[in-house]
Amino acid sequence: DADAGRRPEAVTAPGEADLAGNDLPADDPDGIDLAGAGLRLDVDGAVATVTLDRPERRNAMTFDTWRGLAAIGRSLPAGVRVVVLRGAGPSFSAGIDLALFSGDGEGFADGSDAEATDRFIAGLQEGYTWLRDPAFVTVAAVQGHAIGAGFQLALSCDIRVAADDARFCMKEPALGLVPDLTGTKPLVEIVGVARALELCLTARTVRADEAARLGLAETVVPRDGLDAAVADLVAALLTVDAGAAVATKRLLWQAPGNTLEQQCAAERREQAGRLRELFAR
Ligand code: CAA
Repeated sequence: DADAGRRPEAVTAPGEADLAGNDLPADDPDGIDLAGAGLRLDVDGAVATVTLDRPERRNAMTFDTWRGLAAIGRSLPAGVRVVVLRGAGPSFSAGIDLALFSGDGEGFADGSDAEATDRFIAGLQEGYTWLRDPAFVTVAAVQGHAIGAGFQLALSCDIRVAADDARFCMKEPALGLVPDLTGTKPLVEIVGVARALELCLTARTVRADEAARLGLAETVVPRDGLDAAVADLVAALLTVDAGAAVATKRLLWQAPGNTLEQQCAAERREQAGRLRELFAR
């Protein structure tokens, strides 16, 4: 069924009407102000659009941005089948807000307490991992720069549609850090270890045409055609059966970690579920 794989709290998300008004439900545990976190959420039927919305800072992201993304993931209405992630203005995202590195480092875990640092980063990663939920297909619409944390956000989506001015860069090692916002696994799965090493350890910029060749973007379109291309893709994704979409996403994402035998068994299990539902109609 369409809700298979949905976490229980998302099914019963309170205050759905508030979501379109950009406020999280009043009883959201994080109580995060989305606009203050540089985010906008628009829910239109089966399609949720999450906009990184600090164009004057090239959609640089703060800790609140990632916590806000996680809160959105927990609160989406059950009927949402496609999530589009986009950036306002010239760039998808310039990555972490560099202002976080200045001053006294307030808000950062400094690594001295291993457990606290682990919890801190895990909390930020939650802003990314929900995009793999099989309940919906996630699409990144990337124009301009997708740097560091921004590149990783695009990588955490199921499908990337890039404008011809898109520029991807894994900048973290140049700043003395590693990419830690869930991006290393999809990067390696898409381009392989050798190319991932080359991209990360040179921190070079990958332009749209190369991104398409490497499989980092499924489609490249002219900049002024990005919104239309994403709208066409969303419309196409909504044409297939909702339950089959959920089951197929679940099946495909486990394929890289499965043996052939395990994957065949997973196919049989999912198909049994589909057949039960189809014959019950
Ligand atoms: N943090 C804070 N402010 C940023 C920013 C960032 N990451 N990126 C851009 N801005 C600000 C600029 O300071 C500038 O502000 P002012 O108007 O006050 O001068 C404004 O946004 C517009 O930026 P530019 O004029 O530079 O715009 P551009 O279109 O010419 O260039 C850009 C865009 C290539 C993204 C360039 O701004 C840039 O290189 N930004 C820094 C990118 C970066 O190093 N990000 C960190 C990556 S590492 C990471 O994300 C993960 C991690 O954990 C470390």
